[in-house]
Amino acid sequence: MRLDTWRLELKTAFMSKVLTAIQPSGILHIGNYIGAIEPAVESQRDNELRMFVVDYHAITVPQKPEELRKNILTATATYLACGIDPKKTLLFQQSQVPQHTELAWILNCTARMGELERMTQFKDKTRVRGETTTVGLFDYPILMAADILLYDTAIVPVGEDQKQHVELARDLAIRFNRDFGETFVVPQPKIREVGARIMGLDDPTKKMSKSASSPKNYLSLLDDPETIRKKIMSAVTDNEGKVAFDETRPGISNLVTIFSIITKQTPEQIELDYIGKGYGDFKKDLAEALTLFLLPLQAKIKTYLEHEDELIKILNAGSTRAREEAEKKMEVVRKRVGVCLNQD
Ligand code: TYM
Repeated sequence: MRLDTWRLELKTAFMSKVLTAIQPSGILHIGNYIGAIEPAVESQRDNELRMFVVDYHAITVPQKPEELRKNILTATATYLACGIDPKKTLLFQQSQVPQHTELAWILNCTARMGELERMTQFKDKTRVRGETTTVGLFDYPILMAADILLYDTAIVPVGEDQKQHVELARDLAIRFNRDFGETFVVPQPKIREVGARIMGLDDPTKKMSKSASSPKNYLSLLDDPETIRKKIMSAVTDNEGKVAFDETRPGISNLVTIFSIITKQTPEQIELDYIGKGYGDFKKDLAEALTLFLLPLQAKIKTYLEHEDELIKILNAGSTRAREEAEKKMEVVRKRVGVCLNQD
């Protein structure tokens, strides 16, 4: 065997199956980038990555159809602009792979009401939506479990807010394997140490969220330089005036975290650089660093969006491959459950 073939086989043997996804619900913010997109792009080099747009998760809250269509394309363009390479990574659209909803139904019949009622995100969203909470919103973690389990996923890079959902996917996999025989790989969440929970700029005690009531809460990946400057300069900090990464001071720690990830410096390095300087200088530099980081990304997103047909082609090609892979797993699942009448 040639040395390069041998190396490739060795590498493939040690590659993990990694999977992650994002909802196309309008704004992708710097928290989504730091918590999920950057770690996924990183993992693409040495692992088998599946990355997709979860449009059926997005409709658990009302969406305008024309806007949803646009947001699916923008999310895809954003993945590509951030470095997702469809030659290496399986990039697709969730709704184009009906096996996701099929497996979600089967898992629904194994999950317990209490497990879903305990989900923090559901409880938070119910508080806001009250009577208008949909059954889809309640069931959302089951569809996410199906997303993960269909592809023998070992690792799921997500922000901290999704950890509980990945743990539910683990529990459902273990239960299914116990009751019906070994079928699913039990996945692990991968949560980065620094940046797993980027906090709101207007309220650093709560996570940055695209559903926040004020746009001052988040920094969209599509914000223009003036908006970035205004949002960063008005970000809530404290009265101490010392730039530091200190968990008892969530506002400034959050900004140092963002700065550290965007500029690839450690928080300690940043603390040293700002000794004797105030928050004003630091925020100005952070706004500049974010602008330098986001402008080229935005230019790439724009170019991809100008070639809508290409984007659709990439998604369709990925979805076709994903359907083939997902169908193989569903054939096993249907047999295990007993609904497949063919014996071979
Ligand atoms: P979504 O669309 O709300 O968020 C996408 C990803 O961004 C991360 N994230 C954050 N990370 C750090 N700080 C924040 N403030 C922040 N806000 C969001 C999220 O943790 C997530 O990783 N249910 C999922 C999407 C999904 C999924 C999946 C993920 C569906 N199926 C299968 C992984 C695997 C969601 O709504 O993420």
